[in-house]
Amino acid sequence: MSAPPFPPGFLWGGATAANQIEGGYAAGGKGLSVQDVLPHGLAGPRTAAPTPDNLKLEAIDFYHRYAQDIALFAEMGFRVFRLSIAWSRIFPQGDEAEPNEEGLAFYDRVLDELERHGIEPLVTISHYETPLHLAEAYGGWANRELIGLYERYARVLFERYGSRVRYWLTFNEINSLFHAPFMSGGIIAPPERLTEGLLYQAMHHELVASACATRLARELAPGAQIGCMVLAMPTYPLTPAPPDVLAASAAEHANLVYGDVQVRGAYPGYFLRTLREKGVELEITDEDREALAHTVDFVSFSYYMSACESASPDRAPGAGNIMGGIPNPTLPASEWGWQIDPVGLRLVLNQFWERWGKPLFVVENGLGARDELVEVDGVRTVRDDYRIAYLNDHLVQVGEAIADGVEVLGYTSWGCVDLVSASTAQLSKRYGFVYVDRNDDGSGTFERYRKKSFDWYAEVIRTGGANL
Ligand code: BG6
Repeated sequence: MSAPPFPPGFLWGGATAANQIEGGYAAGGKGLSVQDVLPHGLAGPRTAAPTPDNLKLEAIDFYHRYAQDIALFAEMGFRVFRLSIAWSRIFPQGDEAEPNEEGLAFYDRVLDELERHGIEPLVTISHYETPLHLAEAYGGWANRELIGLYERYARVLFERYGSRVRYWLTFNEINSLFHAPFMSGGIIAPPERLTEGLLYQAMHHELVASACATRLARELAPGAQIGCMVLAMPTYPLTPAPPDVLAASAAEHANLVYGDVQVRGAYPGYFLRTLREKGVELEITDEDREALAHTVDFVSFSYYMSACESASPDRAPGAGNIMGGIPNPTLPASEWGWQIDPVGLRLVLNQFWERWGKPLFVVENGLGARDELVEVDGVRTVRDDYRIAYLNDHLVQVGEAIADGVEVLGYTSWGCVDLVSASTAQLSKRYGFVYVDRNDDGSGTFERYRKKSFDWYAEVIRTGGANL
């Protein structure tokens, strides 16, 4: 048997986001974020104020239990932990002149704990957590003013944590804006104003803000590595008919444009053509163009599923990830209808590497499933062989891509501890190696239990992938 392809410095770990784990939604001077008024995720309407049925308000109480959780990650041998910083903990309204010291001190403590265990932090600056005030008073990312406010926030983070955080991601799944305008971009606009033109302009503002943060990091945190983060969903033609192939290529372009801009520093021709054909004229200033030239060091992405596309006018979109897409008739799906395609991960790694030539980081991948807590020899656990199978098959494909010559920095599986789902706001959609005793109705003790996958992943890390 050949040696495992994972390099010795490979960053094995897990990923989370503040709004899905922390809770403490009003603790330590935190302001509200868009998540605090989304009790049903993408599935339901937003509320005027936080409501008790919103699981994210308490989430899994990482805010108070972070030391215990990080100790569990260390027990699995994590080398990296992906977390996001809740913008509204640092700037409660988003537009204050000065940051909230209590919020900053919380992340100092989290970073101390990671350091104590020798775990490298990977920080997302904005993970679907725009301060609610910026949505309500500014209209979210549709407003150019958010660029400056984000830059102020990023400056505070680089000044405070720049010497202790090496890996940064500017926006989580920046390409989700069109699919989830409020959650992804804090965009509140009545239906008649929620036009494609407005969304393209918001996309432009985020891309400029991301580049401004990269420019700032060069100055304030010279050792930092700045990455973009996209939702990767390879799109196959539903049939080999050329119109279907072209439709799939157009769907790919709609996602790839974000990486193209963040890696290459300018809008690609195919995108400019799309704007022309749609009659959209973006407001792009000379300063914007100058900022966009500050490109990222690496490309990170989430990967859960692939999809198909067709030119047929009666194409039926399927269930699944934020993006939708047509189901692939050859693939199985999770309980939530997300299609399972490990080979798609190898394909996407190769595609991104060949296209951009930048190191890649798989910062989300995993299976959302219902778990049953059982007692084995007096110990509570979950026999989650389905999760082990999913992760194993995907990691095998990461190994294949590395053998193909792709440079992969690391892999952080999504929701390494159970958390609240983004799309459905459920706790029963579990991803973790660690089970959290909390239910969809809010009941539970918040106790943590190691699942079977906990030992499996610890062994993967210990052996550098040799047991896959
Ligand atoms: C990604 C997001 O879209 O997918 C995460 O970055 C999210 O925040 C993850 O949790 C899984 O999606 P869901 O809807 O199952 O939580």
